[in-house]
Amino acid sequence: MGDPVTEYSARLQQQELEIQSLSAEVESLKNPQNLGPSARLDELREENAKLKYRLNVLKRSLWDVSPSGGDAMTNINQRLQEVFGDAIQAAFPELADPPLAVTPNQQAKFGDYQCNSAMAMAQMLKATGTKVNPREIAEKIVRNLPENELVQKTEIAGPGFINVHLKKTFVSKLLNNLLLSGVQPPPLAARKKVVVDFSSPNIAKEMHVGHLRSTIIGDSMSRLFEFLGYDVLRLNHVGDWGTQFGMLIAHLQDKFPDYLSVSPPIGDLQAFYKESKKRFDEDEAFKKRAYRCVVRLQSKEPDFIKAWNMICDVSRREFQRVYDCLDIQIIERGESYYQDLMTRVVKEFEDKGLVELDEGRKIVFAPGQSLPLTVVKSDGGYTYDTSDLAALHQRLFEEKADVIIYVTDSGQGPHFQVVFAAAQMIGWYDPKVTRVEHAGFGVVLGEDKKKFKTRSGDTVRLMDLLDEGLKRSMDKLKEKERDKVLTPEELVRAQRAVAFGCVKYADLSHNRINDYVFSFDKMLDDRGNTAAYLLYAFTRIRSIARLANLDESTLRRAAETTEILLDHEKEWKLGKCILRFPEILQKILDDLLLHTLCDYLYELATTFTEFYDSCYCVEKDRQTGEVIKVNMWRMLLCEATATIMAKGFDILGINPVQRM
Ligand code: ARG
Repeated sequence: MGDPVTEYSARLQQQELEIQSLSAEVESLKNPQNLGPSARLDELREENAKLKYRLNVLKRSLWDVSPSGGDAMTNINQRLQEVFGDAIQAAFPELADPPLAVTPNQQAKFGDYQCNSAMAMAQMLKATGTKVNPREIAEKIVRNLPENELVQKTEIAGPGFINVHLKKTFVSKLLNNLLLSGVQPPPLAARKKVVVDFSSPNIAKEMHVGHLRSTIIGDSMSRLFEFLGYDVLRLNHVGDWGTQFGMLIAHLQDKFPDYLSVSPPIGDLQAFYKESKKRFDEDEAFKKRAYRCVVRLQSKEPDFIKAWNMICDVSRREFQRVYDCLDIQIIERGESYYQDLMTRVVKEFEDKGLVELDEGRKIVFAPGQSLPLTVVKSDGGYTYDTSDLAALHQRLFEEKADVIIYVTDSGQGPHFQVVFAAAQMIGWYDPKVTRVEHAGFGVVLGEDKKKFKTRSGDTVRLMDLLDEGLKRSMDKLKEKERDKVLTPEELVRAQRAVAFGCVKYADLSHNRINDYVFSFDKMLDDRGNTAAYLLYAFTRIRSIARLANLDESTLRRAAETTEILLDHEKEWKLGKCILRFPEILQKILDDLLLHTLCDYLYELATTFTEFYDSCYCVEKDRQTGEVIKVNMWRMLLCEATATIMAKGFDILGINPVQRM
C-alpha cells in the first residue's frame, strides 16, 4: 500500500458501498410494510449521517493528498456544496437524504451563489408530519455553517433562498493560483479508462454529415476525458465487414481482372459502389456470385482478403483527408476486428440458454426490450448486432474500460439499448460500476430545414464541404482586409482556424440531442455565439498584452507578486466567471453535453468585453501613443481569461491563432 491516494480511494469505495447498502436499508425501512422497530431506523439514520460525514472528510483529504491536488483549480460550486452539505447535516441530522442545491447566481444583487435547499427540505419535513417554515430552515442551515475559507457572508431572501457572497481574497487567490499553475484538472482518485467509439464511417460508402457530427463530438469528448486525466482509447468502429463487400469484390473481379498484380485505379470508390450496387439489384447471377464472395471473404481466402484490403485502403485514404483537416486522432478498429470473438460471444449466449430460433435466425431477447437482437442470420452470417456485442465484450474484458461511450445519431439509440441490456443480462457488467452509454445526436439539416443535400439533391461530400468552408473563410478574411495586415502564413493559419473551428463549433454549440441546421453564413458570422467571434475575442485579449509589451513569462512572474484586485464590479464579475470553468467541465462529464462549454466560453468572452470596456488595462498617451501606465492586476485578469479560453478551445478541438 503506502500510496495514500490508492489507500483513500479504496476506503472511499468501501464507504460508498456501505452507504449504498445502508441507504437501501433505510429506504426499505421507510416502506410501511417493512416498518421495523423505529429505534433501528433512527440508529441507521444516525449511522448513515455519520458515514456521509466521514465520506466527505475522506473526499476532501483525498483532494489534498493527491499529487496534483495542490494545483488543481478549485471547483467553487462543489466546495460550497460540501460546506452547505455539512451545515445541513449538522442542522437536520434526522433527514436521511436532504436535497443539496447550490447554483451560481446570474444577478449580482442576489450574491454570487445561492443555496436553494430549504424549500425542498420543508416539503420533506412536511411529509414526515413536521411543519417548518423554509426561512427558519434556511436560518438554521446558516447557523450551522462550518468554518470555511470561501464564504464572506450569507443572506436569506424570499421564501428561503440563501444567498452566498464569496470572499474577495479567496477568489483573488484562486486567480493567482490559476496563473501560476495553469489550468489543472481535479485529481482522479484512481486511473480510469474510457473508450470513445466515434466517427465510424462505412467502407466504400460515403462518409456523410452524420459521421462528421460523430467525429466532431466524439473528438471533443475524448479531449475532455484526456484533460481530466483519463486513459482514453479513441476507436473508429468502421463498417468493414458487411455484405457490401461481396458485391464490391465481385465487381472488382469483373472490372479489374488483374487486380491481384496491378493496383486497381479506383479513385472514386463511391461511384464504384454505386455501379456494383446497381448490378447487384438488377442481375440475379451477379447477386448470387456476390453472396458467394462474402462467404469466401469471411472464410478468409487470401485473394479475397487482398481485394478487401485494397477496397478498405481506398476508403481509408478518403477518411484520412477529413481527419487531417479536422486534426482528429483515432484508431481504426472496425467490425472485422471482432470476427473471431463474434463466434465465441454467440456461443456464450447459446450456452447460457439465451438464444431463441426464429425462422432460421438466432435471436436474443433482453429484459425490458421489445426488439430482439439478431446474432446469427439465417444464412449463418453475423450482423451489426453481433459485432457490437463482441466489441462491447472486448472493451469490457480486454480493454477493462471503466467508461464506454458510443457517439452516433439518435436513430441508433434503440440498437444500443438492446445491446447494453443483453450484456447486462448475461452478466458482463454492472451499470453501477461501469458506465456504458450511447451519446446520441440529432440529424443535420440544410438551411431549408430539410435533409442536408446539395442543390442538385445529391448527398454532400465531406471534403467538398470542408473545401467550401476554407473558401468562405478566406473570403471573409479578405473582406476584412486581413490579407493586408497578416503575413501569407498567418493568413492561411487564420483561414484554417476559422473554417474548421467554425464547422466544429457550430456543431458543438448546439445541444447534440437536437437536430441542427448547417449554415455557413451563421457559423462564419463574427457576431454572436460562434467560433469566429470567440477566435477574434481571443486574439484581441492576446493583443492587449502585446500593447503593453508584456510577454507570457513577465505576466507569470507578475502573478507571483501582484494581488488581483476585484473592487470594480466588472472585475469581480469576470474573476468569478473565469473560476467557473471546473464546474462547467464537471457538468459535462456527467451529461456529455458539450454545448455547455460553448455557452460558457461565450459568456466568458462577453463578460470580458464588459470588463474591458469599463476598466483601463493599459493607459496610453493620447498624443504620442506611448504607454504611460499598465494596471498589472488587470493584465493578469486578461491573461487568466485567455488561459481559460485557450483550454476551452483545446477541449473543443479548436485551434486558436495569436493573430488574425
Ligand atoms: N458504422 C456505423 C454507421 O455508419 C456506426 C458505428 C457506430 N459504432 C458502433 N459500435 N456501432 O452508422
